[in-house]
Amino acid sequence: MVKIAPSILSADFAKLGQEVAEVKAAGAEWLHIDVMDGSFVPNISLGIPVLKSLRKATDLFLDVHLMIDRPLRYARQFCEAGADLVNFHVEADTEENIRAAIALAKSLGKMTGVTLKPKTPVEAVLPFIRDIDLVLVMTVEPGFGGQKFMAEQLDKLRVLRQIIDREGLCCQLEVDGGIDPDTAPLAIEAGAMVLVAGSAVFGKADRAAAIQALR
Ligand code: DX5
Ligand code: ZN
Repeated sequence: MVKIAPSILSADFAKLGQEVAEVKAAGAEWLHIDVMDGSFVPNISLGIPVLKSLRKATDLFLDVHLMIDRPLRYARQFCEAGADLVNFHVEADTEENIRAAIALAKSLGKMTGVTLKPKTPVEAVLPFIRDIDLVLVMTVEPGFGGQKFMAEQLDKLRVLRQIIDREGLCCQLEVDGGIDPDTAPLAIEAGAMVLVAGSAVFGKADRAAAIQALR
């Protein structure tokens, strides 16, 4: 079954608790939390205190997308703040340090993911794919909500789906960026099972209809 992970980047931060309660009631399975440091990506969003508050406010599965340089420095804090799954960008540090971040998050009982920017080839995730719970394929350049879906990334999803199925890996495949009712079926057809959607959910008044339209 396809899971929908609304990205709070497009929510109204002045009433975040209410926004999150609404998407949960509307049927969202996960909540996607975009952490940006103004260095790995040219934008700053939110961090550990907001995650801690969200953890107290909801029992939704918290899918944390770390768009920060050298995420090993903060992996423990994001885990302890209440993440259920932590996504590390493969471009954000050396293979050794990403491996250490994954090991740390696992030792704290968390699920882990590795994320690929659009220009990063599939091969970059292969050293990790047997040790992680999820691969996140970006279908926009990370940093901002509301961008156009990059259809050329569908091939990356297809290749990953083949590898995961062929090798029988228990690794989920997630897609993030420009997902809306037109692009969601393309991503699902290419093999994605977790769809992140910011503007297509929080930008709509009727969240239940918005989530239903993505399935
Ligand atoms: C972009 C973020 C996305 C973003 C998606 O850097 O990783 O999660 O919020 O927003 P939409 O769905 O509007 O493209
Ligand atoms: Zn994201």
